[in-house]
Amino acid sequence: MDRSEGEGMKSAKVVAAAVLTLGWIFGLLLGAGDAPAQDPSFLIESDLYREHSQPLVEFNHDAHMYDYGYDCQECHHVFRGGENVWTDGDPTDCEECHNEPTVRNEKRLPLPKQQLNLKLAYHKNCIGCHRTYNHENHVMAAPVKCQECHTQPR
Ligand code: HEC
Ligand code: HEC
Ligand code: HEC
Ligand code: HEC
Repeated sequence: MDRSEGEGMKSAKVVAAAVLTLGWIFGLLLGAGDAPAQDPSFLIESDLYREHSQPLVEFNHDAHMYDYGYDCQECHHVFRGGENVWTDGDPTDCEECHNEPTVRNEKRLPLPKQQLNLKLAYHKNCIGCHRTYNHENHVMAAPVKCQECHTQPR
């Protein structure tokens, strides 16, 4: 009688321990799933430039979409009949179309080339919006100086 009770206690303990261990393992697995939280920012490093003359630019895509609340079409576009008809799934790589690589005196290029210049495309889009934003809100929150964007080692 005593003995079987002891056995009962023992197996109950074994079961409890097994449940705890399983719980711990699942906890680890779940935790591991969450752990490498995706970094929402990435380096913009176009292959169009065989070598970069400036430090690279880190861009927080998620912050611009979710925190600052901009539409995709503020930055992404496909023009048809003068209208931006870009939708998710259309090209996102700027250099797919803006493949004119000049980075010096690019403002002296003929206009059609300027429109396809990659450096101008980025600078007009990024700095253009930042200037407007700062101006309208009387802040300096959005970077407009070279070394505020070109921060990352190349
Ligand atoms: C403030 C500007 C901006 C906004 C707003 C924006 N994007 Fe982007 N997005 C970029 C830039 C810049 C890149 C990188 C382009 C390159 O490498 O040539 C990019 C890259 C991407 C990529 C490819 C890289 C990746 O993360 O897979 C996808 C997909 C994308 N954007 C989708 C979207 C969608 C969908 C929206 C709206 C919900 C959006 N973007 C809003 C600027 C923006
Ligand atoms: C599918 C091709 C395509 C892609 C991809 C593309 N662009 Fe453009 N972009 C164009 C064309 C074409 C024009 C000229 C539109 C016009 O006729 O005004 C243009 C114009 C611009 C302009 C205005 C240029 C000026 O001189 O007024 C900016 C700024 C710009 N793009 C930035 C970007 C950025 C930043 C990206 C990537 C996030 C990007 N573009 C991706 C095709 C593209
Ligand atoms: C349509 C408007 C808009 C465009 C386009 C835009 N930004 Fe911004 N960006 C903002 C605003 C607004 C802030 C500051 C928000 C705040 O802190 O109040 C900001 C902040 C930033 C910051 C500092 C804070 C952070 O999120 O890291 C960096 C760096 C930056 N932008 C880089 C870029 C680059 C690079 C591009 C072009 C690929 C770009 N931005 C295009 C609106 C824009
Ligand atoms: C709002 C952010 C922002 C600011 C401010 C800014 N840039 Fe850029 N710049 C970019 C982005 C994004 C690219 C594209 C980088 C790439 O594709 O590697 C770029 C590309 C360039 C390039 C071509 C790539 C290279 O490294 O040779 C040069 C040169 C450059 N910028 C110089 C400057 C200078 C000089 C200033 C200040 C007068 C400046 N930028 C200010 C975002 C910025």
